[in-house]
Amino acid sequence: MAEQSVANLTIEGDVAVLTLNSPPVNALSAQVRQGILEGVQNAVANPAVKAVVLICDGRTFIAGADITEFGKPPRAPGLKEAQDAIENASKPVIAAIHGTALGGGLEVALCCHYRVAVPSAKCGLPEVNLGLLPGAGGTQRLPRIVGAAKALEMMTSGQHVGARQCLEMGLVDEIVPEGELRAGAIALARRIVAENRPLKKVRDLSDKMLAARGDASLFADFRKANARKFRGFMAPEYNIRCIEAAVNLPFDEGMKVERELFTELMQGTQSAAQRYVFFAERQVWKIPDIGDDVEQIPVRKVGMIGAGTMGGGIAMNFANVGIPVILVETRQDALDRGLAVVRRNYETTAKRGRLSMEDVEKRMALLSGSLELEALADCDLVIEAVFENMDIKKQVFARLDAICKPGAILASNTSALNVNEIATAVKRPEAVVGMHFFSPANVMRLLEVVRGDKTSKPVVATAMQIGKKIGKIAALSGVCPGFIGNRILRARSLQAQAMLNEGAMPWDIDKVLYDFGMPMGPFAMSDLAGLDIGWARETSTSSTIREVLCEMDRRGQKTSAGYYDYDEQRNARPSPVTEKLIREFAAKAGNAPRTISQQEILERCTYPMINEGARILEEKIALRASDVDIVWINGYGWPVYRGGPMFYADTVGLAQVVAKLKEYAPRLGPEFVLSPLLERLAAEGKRLQDVK
Ligand code: 3HC
Ligand code: NAI
Repeated sequence: MAEQSVANLTIEGDVAVLTLNSPPVNALSAQVRQGILEGVQNAVANPAVKAVVLICDGRTFIAGADITEFGKPPRAPGLKEAQDAIENASKPVIAAIHGTALGGGLEVALCCHYRVAVPSAKCGLPEVNLGLLPGAGGTQRLPRIVGAAKALEMMTSGQHVGARQCLEMGLVDEIVPEGELRAGAIALARRIVAENRPLKKVRDLSDKMLAARGDASLFADFRKANARKFRGFMAPEYNIRCIEAAVNLPFDEGMKVERELFTELMQGTQSAAQRYVFFAERQVWKIPDIGDDVEQIPVRKVGMIGAGTMGGGIAMNFANVGIPVILVETRQDALDRGLAVVRRNYETTAKRGRLSMEDVEKRMALLSGSLELEALADCDLVIEAVFENMDIKKQVFARLDAICKPGAILASNTSALNVNEIATAVKRPEAVVGMHFFSPANVMRLLEVVRGDKTSKPVVATAMQIGKKIGKIAALSGVCPGFIGNRILRARSLQAQAMLNEGAMPWDIDKVLYDFGMPMGPFAMSDLAGLDIGWARETSTSSTIREVLCEMDRRGQKTSAGYYDYDEQRNARPSPVTEKLIREFAAKAGNAPRTISQQEILERCTYPMINEGARILEEKIALRASDVDIVWINGYGWPVYRGGPMFYADTVGLAQVVAKLKEYAPRLGPEFVLSPLLERLAAEGKRLQDVK
């Protein structure tokens, strides 16, 4: 028997109960695998035992392989040994599932002869989200039990499926009441023995595979329908190939395909990136000097100043979780417009079947409006999203200081302004924090929490936690122009603009970044956001390409023209007008256009971003490299399979990045400063992700 604490075998009359206990999530570490193997062997060897129940202590059934072991030398016993012991046992083995049976955990359960679950339990094969496929027989067993179509959905989305649906699909055999799992599983074990039910091996099921065999359209249609979603990712396609193998090949042959493709994914950079992101997403909440003992400020009521593009979307996040919001505007028409946009958004969601009309009304009822800042007197958290102008923001904060109750959090959604300066407008700078949402604020997952020099710990902790509550991923940033995300964006924009003057066209640059995996390139993004943000005709000086485009009323998608021309369906095509304008600007500057290779475009865009990220790290604006990556993945759509700009830099090699930056230096512009940290790490052969 392995260590008592990890796997514990008890005998209850004629049923052996093997209980795993390996906090926090009973992941399949070497110890746990050993515990299962020995526990099952001992139970089977015991003549008094007629059936075995496999159950877990703690919050969940086995949540998968131990991801911390990945990339390290394998340790015996392998998972297959433990699974074989279960599947080939001469006595029925029943998996008793609560919490989540995920990945390797579900694959263990699929080797059991029967599965029983409580109603709140969920099952899933989320390996795809780690850039992997289920590598312990899941790709061959799941389709055999739920059919190829459902397996395709489950394995390429990684979704966790609730117990009732699992019962309908045949993935679990029985549901027992909450809190009665152990007793229910033992009772089922006894019934199985009494009724002399067979030792059901999922590997031997064939009817659903035979039914799908020869139906090539099933896979072709699925690939086509999901092409956009899967773009750039290897793992979804590899999962599909495994299911094809399950349908078309005998079990053992299918297992070979699974092993081969699993190994390839495991050794590749995509999975390494996605595993890194898994841990980065958990790390990002941890702030070294703010422990769990720091008290949180209860947020029961929120005030929102400004009901424009951002204000409405931000308010929706709170209404979605049942927190009432008062929106304050300067004029009734602006308030009405803002609330109407929110309603339209909710109704669109309802039309798509993702929200009931009743819920639309419930959420709208949580939103009220006012033209008086005084209405915010009893709010626990006030978020300002008025125009991006320091004077206006300071005026608003000075008034809030006089109005808001003591202890209220005063947050600004500024995208680049100095939060410390905003805090000078109030007598309680400890209450001021940046809460930088991303557009559309009801959709985008990122929240940058900006900690000012004087922001108190409870205010920072509450801003982070309220972010979690409304379903965001919050990353902490210090104060600097543009914070983490927009500061890095600026480094890229400068290069993209510079390359226009050197001979590249917007669509050349956009294509490279799109092919790299970004949702769109910088020029398509500008057209979408509107070229006239911060532009006014009265002050326009015709000195940049962007200004001239605005003067021509080419203000982006909203005017059907910007860098690109747009048709009625908003399809973009390269614009001869823009091209001519760019050529004229280059000629005026005395630049002879040159052909810029795709590689140079990629390096010129991404390496200065990496450099800026390194500067952000050395200035301690970000706590860690992985926080920078979280910001760029969740706020700007950096492809998760490349792990964020910092992780990407490590895969390219910092020496290579620095060498290229030095080579391009004459073109990088006066603002470019090579990061001493980056240069030092490169010289020492180190990685950004190791910076502590
Ligand atoms: N291996 C190692 N550590 C894991 C882990 C795993 N599979 N799953 C979770 N953890 C760790 C987390 O890193 C976290 O550690 P921390 O407290 O030090 O930050 C801790 O367990 C708790 O995790 P969460 O904060 O995520 O807890 P939640 O309660 O919010 O969620 C969960 C629980 C749903 C199980 C979630 O952790 C999860 O989705 N885990 C990953 C599941 C997964 O991907 N399984 C497949 C693994 S790959 C595999 O099985 C390959 C196989 O096919 C061969
Ligand atoms: P917007 O112009 O759409 O909305 C601003 C709203 O504030 C207007 O409706 C205006 O009437 C109102 N307003 C102005 N002064 C006010 C006052 N004193 N009291 C009450 N309401 C007032 O602007 P948007 O885009 O929503 O931006 C707001 C803030 O959010 C800015 O600081 C901006 O930098 C920031 N931000 C914007 C993002 C974007 O993509 N639009 C992204 C992230 C942050």
